[in-house]
Amino acid sequence: MANDLEHGSQLTFSSTYSTTIQDTYQQSTMDAAIENIKQLASEAGHSARQPIILALTKLIYSLETPDDTVQRIGGLPLQTSVALTAVDLGLFRLLVEAEAGSTGSLTLAELAAKTGAEAALLLRLLRYLASIGLVDQVSKDAFKANHGSRNMTAKVAESGLRHYFYTCCPEYFALPDHLKRTGYKNANDETQTAWHDAFKTDKGPFTWFADKPDNMSYFNDYMAFRRGPELGWLSVYPVREQVPESWPADRPLYVNIGGNIGHQCAEFRDKFPADVLPGRVILQDLPHSIAAALATPGVENTVHDFFKPQPVRGAKFYFLRGVFHNHPDHKVKLLLKQTMDAMTEESIMLIDEIIPPAIGTGLDAAAHDITMLAAFAGAERSEEQWKGLFGEVGLRLVRTYVYNEASYESVMDVRLL
Ligand SMILES: C[S@@+](CC[C@H](N)C(=O)[O-])C[C@H]1O[C@@H](n2cnc3c(N)ncnc32)[C@H](O)[C@@H]1O
Repeated sequence: MANDLEHGSQLTFSSTYSTTIQDTYQQSTMDAAIENIKQLASEAGHSARQPIILALTKLIYSLETPDDTVQRIGGLPLQTSVALTAVDLGLFRLLVEAEAGSTGSLTLAELAAKTGAEAALLLRLLRYLASIGLVDQVSKDAFKANHGSRNMTAKVAESGLRHYFYTCCPEYFALPDHLKRTGYKNANDETQTAWHDAFKTDKGPFTWFADKPDNMSYFNDYMAFRRGPELGWLSVYPVREQVPESWPADRPLYVNIGGNIGHQCAEFRDKFPADVLPGRVILQDLPHSIAAALATPGVENTVHDFFKPQPVRGAKFYFLRGVFHNHPDHKVKLLLKQTMDAMTEESIMLIDEIIPPAIGTGLDAAAHDITMLAAFAGAERSEEQWKGLFGEVGLRLVRTYVYNEASYESVMDVRLL
């Protein structure tokens, strides 16, 4: 696990607080406990990370006073807002670059010279960022990067933060009044959601994106960078075994429905070049996504509204990732039926979604579920819910392949009855 454990962090009780002789025993006991946890965490695999984070988070919460809890929950939007300001100023990148320098840190004067922001303002921003663990303060007027700062320089961070701040946060703020006004129903009307209240529009998010290029590009980049190919369906699904040797080059092999700007089509072609797996690879999405689509050799970028009849008939794979969760059940059934109508007995529908467990759903999946509710009257559905929907339209679930145990991301192999 690449984190502060490997980078000489300040994650000890005694280095964070000044000491008195009476405190020494308590501090050394605390430091030993933290050392043990650091050791355990550094040995944990990817899927063990979430339970460790949850256990430690609960431990922290158990120490809070009521006011601490209110400050933490009430202040969450401030975290997003100040972190975004820091990204805009390039603070995380500058501090991470400075790690290689002689002091490993930057003074306020140096940061002011590099960013053009006033040193007095930078002190206030950085002090807040230090209080939420995104930078470390090393002296009265110097700061250095830590694990959180390094995370904030990852490709996914900038687009993800902008997507949350400019597109998700307004609907989060609109949600309480929306639910109150609509009588606390489990939403199924995609035309009347917290999103519509927040943005005072009658357009759904994907139609609205057409006139909002900045919001759309934050979303597209976030989708592309959130998950690397090593943690995707291609790492678990037996693609080659499912495709007959004789599959003709002019027959559709892989249709990516609602495939955004084509990152997954590119990954598919990268892993299975045409000389290894012949057949057409086709991206389908709305016009504004296709206008921004990657020009990947061997991938056909096409405009198609997936609620209309599927024009590509008899493909081997119809693949949909993170598409159904954007829709209420009645639209899910319509999309399933439009796709089924194009399938032959040889076809496989691959549905790639977060499938939360019945008990103990983690933060990521639970938060996505509420985000889907607020924006689309959509949902993250359990396997039971999926089986119910397949049964209603005449499909069968052959097998669910989990490729990310921590986030319950899975691909379902679904076929005609
Ligand atoms: C949550 S994104 C998922 C994108 C991509 N599958 C991925 O996992 O990165 C949903 C995609 O569905 C597309 N979409 C929404 N409504 C659509 C429609 N009616 N027809 C075709 N594509 C649509 C959006 O433009 C967006 O690219």
